[in-house]
Amino acid sequence: MCGIVGYVGPRDAPALLLEGLKRLEYRGYDSAGVSITNGGGLETRKAAGKISKLESVMNGSPLHGTVGIGHTRWATHGAPTECNAHPHHDCTNTIAVVHNGIIENASTLKAQLEARGHEFRSETDTEVLAHLIEAEYEDDLEGAVADALRQVEGTYGIAVVSSRDPDKIVAARKGSPLLIGVGEGEYYVASDASAILQYTRQVVYLDDGEVAVLSRNGYQVVDLRERQLQKPVTKIDWDLEQIEKGGFPHFMLKEIFEQPQTIENTMRGRLLLEEGDAKLGGIDLPAEKLLEADQIIITACGTSWHAGLIGEQLIEEFARIPVEVEYASEFRYRNAVVTPKTLAIVISQSGETADTLAALREAKHRGATTIGIVNVVGSTIARDTDCGMYTHAGPEIGVASTKAFTSQVVSLALLTLKLARMRGLSVVKGREIAEALQKLPGQIKQILDRADEIEQLAEEFKRAPNFLYLGRGYNFPTALEGALKLKEISYIHAEGYPAAEMKHGPIALIDEMMPVVFVAPHDSVFEKLVSNVQEVKARRGTVIAITTRDEEALEGKVDYEFRIPETIEALTPVLAAIPLQLLAYYIAVKRGANVDQPRNLAKSVTVE
Ligand code: G6P
Repeated sequence: MCGIVGYVGPRDAPALLLEGLKRLEYRGYDSAGVSITNGGGLETRKAAGKISKLESVMNGSPLHGTVGIGHTRWATHGAPTECNAHPHHDCTNTIAVVHNGIIENASTLKAQLEARGHEFRSETDTEVLAHLIEAEYEDDLEGAVADALRQVEGTYGIAVVSSRDPDKIVAARKGSPLLIGVGEGEYYVASDASAILQYTRQVVYLDDGEVAVLSRNGYQVVDLRERQLQKPVTKIDWDLEQIEKGGFPHFMLKEIFEQPQTIENTMRGRLLLEEGDAKLGGIDLPAEKLLEADQIIITACGTSWHAGLIGEQLIEEFARIPVEVEYASEFRYRNAVVTPKTLAIVISQSGETADTLAALREAKHRGATTIGIVNVVGSTIARDTDCGMYTHAGPEIGVASTKAFTSQVVSLALLTLKLARMRGLSVVKGREIAEALQKLPGQIKQILDRADEIEQLAEEFKRAPNFLYLGRGYNFPTALEGALKLKEISYIHAEGYPAAEMKHGPIALIDEMMPVVFVAPHDSVFEKLVSNVQEVKARRGTVIAITTRDEEALEGKVDYEFRIPETIEALTPVLAAIPLQLLAYYIAVKRGANVDQPRNLAKSVTVE
């Protein structure tokens, strides 16, 4: 979480850093700060709250200079106060540090530093770094940073400036993403390319254990033993418009409406209609690896985990390989059975989620072959997996994941198609899946054209204190995802449940105050689901059904109905997810919630 940006060059650094921080605000937004070296010394401005607060502080008390670093925070150690906001300083205010990640041995180091006379001002783990660098400072900043980092346990992406070495920024990475932006006579450091994309498209991704030194004359990357490294420069090929709102009131709505296009992008060049197969260039494993696999473990967090649950059903139904879906945070500490014949599929929008990354490393360590399904190109998970496929959904800015989810499910369907066809699924069946996939973008568009119907539904239910989401089979995970969307952005308590499990507990909650959303397309479990609808109606619950056609079985049993187009059962979650995303969105907007930046959440959770 949190965002870092730094600049060294000829231009006015404070304005540039503020602009970069605004672009990073979606990563964390409870406090922010900027430090500038201006020849004479080091000056810092900080504020609790959003970047706009920092901007007013900086307007009231301007900074000047051409070298500096900035940070937007999502609190882990210490409350989101001005004092705990980054940058943090040493005793004499000559060093400023911004940091993403967690220093695990911070309390031990702090005690040692205090014993040596260092005085601490904040409750953060980051401040320890500033004092450690101060303690190690002899000749130059980079040497001091490298010496300090050798003593640190935990994760970090850091950028450091000092008035003792005023024309440079030192940056380092271990477990928290960081990149260098390469301009002409100017260089940037950022935790995420969106912060600097308006200035340069040339970036160098830092790897763990690397330290970079940026000055107006260029940059150097060294390892912790200070050996020089040659790093490739990558060109970023997405546009700033892609991370702007494009006329929509919120990123989330824009991203919901992008789904016909994003699904198209996920499938582009991959879907082989005639062969009923998928061509996945990134899954460049020897065929035996895929054929010999006797177990698949899918691991992820949040919405990506829900996509994984759908992937489980897809793979088991068509490729007939046993699948386990594991929360990454559980898998990483569990003594799971993993063998060289295990394929571990790691799903992540950001490619940086700390638990998912740790689960990936654990799976690798235990001998699995790892496949990534990742959205952010060049992210750590994408680079650390043995092979993979990008979802190509484009940058997702709204904290609640929407377009990334449907692209993940479609990616899993493509992967399933490939695995299944290798393992004996007929061409005819393969074609049926491929054709259904191809129709999805148009079908999503049909749903989006009727967004106003969902908006009306939202008006009816915007005051509901609780919601229940029920589904079966492929749409049990859809129900979980619908509930997650609603609670994330509207703060209404919502639970997703397998519909038949309702009678083992949640049924006790049902009364006329409880809206129940049934994800009820006409599929193999439809009749069973109708019985569950009846159970809710019998207890005076209000039923909202997401269904596919005029069903006699539902007549008189549902209070509200929204129809989605028909597709094969396995792909119904992609279509059913759309009205659920819209419902959550409109309810949250009507309740006045900040849908793009909901309280307490962050887009990319890079702490454990
Ligand atoms: C956070 C986000 C969720 C996301 C989850 C996993 O909690 O708010 O929207 O689903 O992290 O993120 P990932 O980037 O790994 O998919």
